[in-house]
Amino acid sequence: MATVFVSGTLPGDGVARLRASHDVVQDEAGIRSAAFATCRAQVEAVVALLTDRIDSHFLGGSPRLRVVANVAVGVDNVDLAACRARGVLVTNTPDVLTDATADLAFGLLLAAARRIAEGDRLVRAGAFTGWTPTFMLGARVNGTTLGIVGMGRIGQAVARRARGFDMRVLYTQRKRLPSPVEAELGITFVGPLDELLGSADSVSIHCPLTPETRHLFDAARFARMKRGAVLVNTARGPIVDEEALAGALTSGALAAAGLDVFEDEPRVDPALLGCPNAVLAPHIGSADRPTREAMAGTAVANVLEVLAGRAALTPVG
Ligand code: GLV
Repeated sequence: MATVFVSGTLPGDGVARLRASHDVVQDEAGIRSAAFATCRAQVEAVVALLTDRIDSHFLGGSPRLRVVANVAVGVDNVDLAACRARGVLVTNTPDVLTDATADLAFGLLLAAARRIAEGDRLVRAGAFTGWTPTFMLGARVNGTTLGIVGMGRIGQAVARRARGFDMRVLYTQRKRLPSPVEAELGITFVGPLDELLGSADSVSIHCPLTPETRHLFDAARFARMKRGAVLVNTARGPIVDEEALAGALTSGALAAAGLDVFEDEPRVDPALLGCPNAVLAPHIGSADRPTREAMAGTAVANVLEVLAGRAALTPVG
């Protein structure tokens, strides 16, 4: 029986499955909690959330730690090199959240382009005075060109959805996909990001946050985008310079943005809060119930495998 710390509250029966064979300590406040402090010296596995910072300071206090199971596909909250150096395995939750996140990206694209959230606020404020031909005109989605930055699992799932909207899909990422995959998805590789930005009516971000992608979207990049384009970010907030984005939304350089992630969550830049053409979601990309249960289940299964001396199901790196 090992000591396992579970950060936060997880949906589904994962924690009960852990308790059946291990000593589980759980706290809503995560690894900063007093509960964690009491067990950190013994802990062999941590089920971590993306709000937990797993760095060398954290690792230093838990010498028996064998596995960190992150309940997310992104692992930018984990210092992978520090974990590797200490022999701590890191796992994530790929695949199970692909469709939910792609659904939300597409929802944000539609909501931002067609001004759905803005319209909702207007109706609630009693300002809907009747249909007119020029009322709340937005950007077109159907039949336009979508640029996808990062054509991994989620980017591909967004491309599949775009097909249903008769969209032309361009993509960029470091490595071009094999041509049968491009053909199956009906997507076109455009090497340089700036070239993609100059051709796309909307752009959806699906790359991981790394030192190279931090502020990938800054004022210079917004200037490269088509005037009146729409930006969607369901990846990680710091990929976008929020202050520069607010500037582009205010000047009319961009028509709208749909954001599920922010630079310094849960804080949102006040300049963005002041943009009626920004649709702001509270990091709910993977938040449909079956997906979140599957994410928790994957993290727990990884812990159970590693503690039983078997290979992790979804190791990172
Ligand atoms: C959520 O944001 C994730 O990375 O899974």
